[in-house]
Amino acid sequence: MSETILVRGARQLLTLRGPSAPRRGAALRDLGLIQEGSLLIRDGLVAAAGTTRRIENLAAARAATEIDATGRVVMPGFVDSHTHLIFGPPRLDDYERRLAGQDYHQIAAAGGGILVSVKAVRGTSSRTLLRQTRLSLHRLIRHGATTVEAKSGYGLDEPAELKTLRVLAALDGCPIDVVSTYLGAHVVPPEFAGRPEEYIGWVCSYMLPLIRRRRLARFVDIYIERGAFGLDDARRYLETARSLGFGLKVHAEQFSHSGGTRLAMELGAVSVDHLEQAGAEDITLVAQSSTIATLLPGSVFHLGLDRYPPARALIDHGAAVALATDFNPGTSPTCSMPMVLALACNQMRMTPAEAVSASTINGAYAAGVADRAGSLEPGKQADLLLLDVSDYREIPYYFGVNPVAVTMKKGRILYRQGEVTCPEDL
Ligand code: NIG
Ligand code: FE
Repeated sequence: MSETILVRGARQLLTLRGPSAPRRGAALRDLGLIQEGSLLIRDGLVAAAGTTRRIENLAAARAATEIDATGRVVMPGFVDSHTHLIFGPPRLDDYERRLAGQDYHQIAAAGGGILVSVKAVRGTSSRTLLRQTRLSLHRLIRHGATTVEAKSGYGLDEPAELKTLRVLAALDGCPIDVVSTYLGAHVVPPEFAGRPEEYIGWVCSYMLPLIRRRRLARFVDIYIERGAFGLDDARRYLETARSLGFGLKVHAEQFSHSGGTRLAMELGAVSVDHLEQAGAEDITLVAQSSTIATLLPGSVFHLGLDRYPPARALIDHGAAVALATDFNPGTSPTCSMPMVLALACNQMRMTPAEAVSASTINGAYAAGVADRAGSLEPGKQADLLLLDVSDYREIPYYFGVNPVAVTMKKGRILYRQGEVTCPEDL
């Protein structure tokens, strides 16, 4: 491919250009915004970004294929840095139980919860999982995701975890980038019921080295929570993973305060995710670390809870914050990053600019892909969105509405919004 493309005439071009580091504190509000901007793409990479007047006068722009962005916002594709992409069917019975008043732990105790998805994934062929997952991937793309991190963790035995990670590998690059995470420590599987320590022992001595050898995951993750794993098991798992060369991610302080954040900081985790129950000390620790706080307001919303993560305090103390969908069947069945931005602004008091940085460049840091994604700067992948709005603040403002008109991955159009057909149109 040696095509040159000119994305021309954006009302606002959000480049997210800046230093090669996660955005923290006030820097989250700097979008590298160019009014009346255009972008030149060559061989799937950003060649130049600037004002339309400058870019359209470049020699290469004259022979380029033009994509009209007049009046629109153009921005980097969303990097959704926390999803549980492969889970089989939706858990609609859990959903109705919750609407009837049961909480997450009651539902799990009554035979619902994560183990329902584990049973489903174990009993489903790779082929079917691939088909089901493609559907979700297409939804993510329609809502502007151009890179997703995806966790295993609904297999938990060797065949089902390997099957999950292989499906993720098959999806990587077809057509968007999929970064794999081994969530071996999601919950204790039935064959180890009541013996979390033994399960973690097996994972550390057998599964982690195996997955490393086969290069099936870049990160590992653990769910530190009552009913899942405690701090001692977490330390063993994370230290083993770190010594094998995995990047570390941690689900911490979601339903209860477990101390997972402190452990994640101590072990140099790439991201610490959730943080709904984080306290003042956690906030200071995260703000002083290089770990990214990945906030997942979709799960708070879907669970009907009212305690959102302390985004404002984290940012005001100087933390690097990312936003992600947490797409999963139990707590956050959404593929919509725009909806996540709306929740972040309306429920966590993030500014629209902070929400955009958190869901693009900081998501890229959390997923380990910031060298090629997350901003529209020369040399990076042309992963971008044309939105049918003329000011980026409209993304969260029109909540529940999908503003994505075009999704481009490496300069190729993957999605184009449909038209409303109305014969009586004026
Ligand atoms: O991120 N909390 C643990 N894992 C998921 C939920 C998984 C499920 O309920 O299936 C989460 O919220
Ligand atoms: Fe999660």
